[in-house]
Amino acid sequence: MAFPEKFITELTERSDIVDVVSSYVRLTKRSGSNQFGLCPFHSEKTPSFSVSADKQIYHCFGCGKGGGVISFIMDVENLSFPEAVEFLAKRAGMQMPEEEHSGESKKKAKLLALNKDAARFFYEQLGTPAGSAAVEYMIRRGISPPVAKRFGLGFAPDSWDLLRSAMRQKGYSDFDMFDAGLVKRGKNGGFYDAFRKRLMFPIIDVRGNVIGFSGRILGDGEPKYLNSPETLVFNKSRNLFALNLAKKSKSGYIILSEGNIDVVALHQAGFDSAVASLGTSLTPEQARLISRYTDQVIIAYDNDGAGIKASQRAIGILEKLDIKVKVLRLSGAKDPDEFIKLKGPEAFRKLLEGSEHQLDYRLKNIADKYDLSLDEQKLDFLREASDLAARIPDAVKRQVYSMRIASMSGVKEEVISADVERRHKKLMNAAKRTEQRQEVQPERLIQPAARQLHYDDPESAAAEEGLIRLLYLEHELVKKPGLPDKEDFSSTALANIYSALRAGLEKGEHVTVDTMAASLEKDEISLLVSILQKPEILKRSEQSLRDYIDKIKDKKALRSGKPDLNALQKQLQKTKGYGR
Ligand code: CTP
Ligand code: MN
Repeated sequence: MAFPEKFITELTERSDIVDVVSSYVRLTKRSGSNQFGLCPFHSEKTPSFSVSADKQIYHCFGCGKGGGVISFIMDVENLSFPEAVEFLAKRAGMQMPEEEHSGESKKKAKLLALNKDAARFFYEQLGTPAGSAAVEYMIRRGISPPVAKRFGLGFAPDSWDLLRSAMRQKGYSDFDMFDAGLVKRGKNGGFYDAFRKRLMFPIIDVRGNVIGFSGRILGDGEPKYLNSPETLVFNKSRNLFALNLAKKSKSGYIILSEGNIDVVALHQAGFDSAVASLGTSLTPEQARLISRYTDQVIIAYDNDGAGIKASQRAIGILEKLDIKVKVLRLSGAKDPDEFIKLKGPEAFRKLLEGSEHQLDYRLKNIADKYDLSLDEQKLDFLREASDLAARIPDAVKRQVYSMRIASMSGVKEEVISADVERRHKKLMNAAKRTEQRQEVQPERLIQPAARQLHYDDPESAAAEEGLIRLLYLEHELVKKPGLPDKEDFSSTALANIYSALRAGLEKGEHVTVDTMAASLEKDEISLLVSILQKPEILKRSEQSLRDYIDKIKDKKALRSGKPDLNALQKQLQKTKGYGR
């Protein structure tokens, strides 16, 4: 391991997993010393992600991911092992052992520093004579100076190298600037400023890092926006504009809009929980990010065909994460910015309070698709609408929606209601059948969650798991004679875990899931954690150890086609009922 074992141990002692996980996952349920929340790694509606304060591990019973605090940060922040260690060290206020900064994280830190300096440069340009064009534009769009400052807005001057030379003076190289997307490379190999004569919106992540920029043209013209390219520190689909501000809002919900200007206008009007996806439609990663901060989203997309389509897509993505979704209908304006300009913040607040529940919204959208005066189309409407209502778990709500469908279509309410209930039962039965199917396949239960780790010899694998679990729980057992070799294992993943565990224990190290994360693959760590979840009786640990070892060796002999006589005899005794 590249890090001293003592450092990792101290780091994990100072990084309580419940604390760390809590800033990403709302832990809503408790059962014994385990706390549960919605898994940040897969979509689910009921919490199956557990964190154990005792064992300092997490494990998702749904998707099978698991690990210690370091693995958690690796997964959730998408970092390598050394980066995750660095991340946690910063959080815990610990000095990194020198020379351990990874090359990549050094480069990331440099790009972030460069972006911050560039943002400051753009901001300062507003005070120059050339910057007055941007100031005037902001006045025209009604953006007040304090709000501009809160967002760190700035101006990229109409020049090929003002930014470049300012940043060079600060010690950054052209290649740094190129990697940050701040300069482009010309045909002759020279570098020039990428953003020119644009109103600059820094994109700031939830940790306060400037990760990229959006530059809007002053007035009309194409392209309207220029955005930073994907860089080491900027990934469009994983970030949201203004989430750094919105996450502090006390409103209890997040307003999701399309445009940067809309977000600025909303914040200025007092709606401080507005964010925008960065010129893309909402991605699952962005939705997951939102779900760390709220369970309610109000969609305020543009009032046009594209906006309605995008809303529907977003509803689907957000609902998967059990986020309550409402949709605003901005009548008489094309977007939130224009709505507030035309009708004022109070009107927008009214809209927010009355914003339609997503089911009403969906129902209306279904109705809009059909001409209900034609029988044929009315039937299609009824089929689709009843199917929507049938998916509502709550019986009273189903009834309410059946009534609504009835009044929309002019069909008797009893008829609709009966149809909705019939469909509901059918859906429930189908769900039950899937569940049962899973239950009658015991062999599947022992298989690892990660498919590529499939056990070819489940019986041996069970013993291999047991051996690993015992050694992990009782370190002393590593000194017992007769432990199998790595080669005796039937599963490569288990063999890897076993040899990492054994190596650590034999060196007398303090072995935990976290120290092992340095030398194992992610899905091996998840597997290790799921093994540790299974019960083990430690009372007769030495006997269990022997049993596991025997089973592993017997199975190995059988697999290699030359069963050793000893093993064969034992097996014979067992089947004949002698022995023990
Ligand atoms: N966008 C983009 N590239 C474009 C156009 C738009 O990246 N060529 C992104 C920007 O993030 C923009 C968002 O899509 O904020 C929504 O676009 P639009 O509604 O056109 O921009 P607004 O910010 O609302 O600007 P305005 O009100 O001035 O039209
Ligand atoms: Mn817009």
